Amino acid sequence: MANILLINGPNLNLLGTREPDVYGEMNLDTIEDNLMELAKQHTHSLDCFQSNAEHEIVNKIQTCQNSDIQFILINPGAFTHSSIAIRDALLAINIPFFEIHLSNVFSREDFRHKSYFSDIAAGCLIGLGAHGYELALLAAIKKIEQY
Ligand code: DQA
Repeated sequence: MANILLINGPNLNLLGTREPDVYGEMNLDTIEDNLMELAKQHTHSLDCFQSNAEHEIVNKIQTCQNSDIQFILINPGAFTHSSIAIRDALLAINIPFFEIHLSNVFSREDFRHKSYFSDIAAGCLIGLGAHGYELALLAAIKKIEQY
């Protein structure tokens, strides 16, 4: 059995009501519940963490170093385009991760085209809405089972 961690960054706690035309109508609790169930069906376990604060996300990533977390799924939200600190934390722990975005950031404003994560991610799921989270989890499970 593997342990996987899902991290969501700022404003993703508002999913469901936040710009539903961009981010969809599903709230974060539902996304997390569906994912935990999916992980369970595959005999793995998923922990979920959301924070609006950069330092809390850095702290959470640091705790993974001496834990049994084998894979991280992260939607860094707006920190995608700004956070060298979260990038450095992920580099420090040496646990593979997938970067997820609900919206297609490349079809949006120029400032969303730059990611501090894509070049160090094991994969990216972009623009697939909430389904992207499910696909990311299934891909992570496949990778873990291949190790
Ligand atoms: C996002 C895209 C980011 O540009 C934005 O700041 C978010 C959500 C997405 O999931 O599409 O908060 O990461």
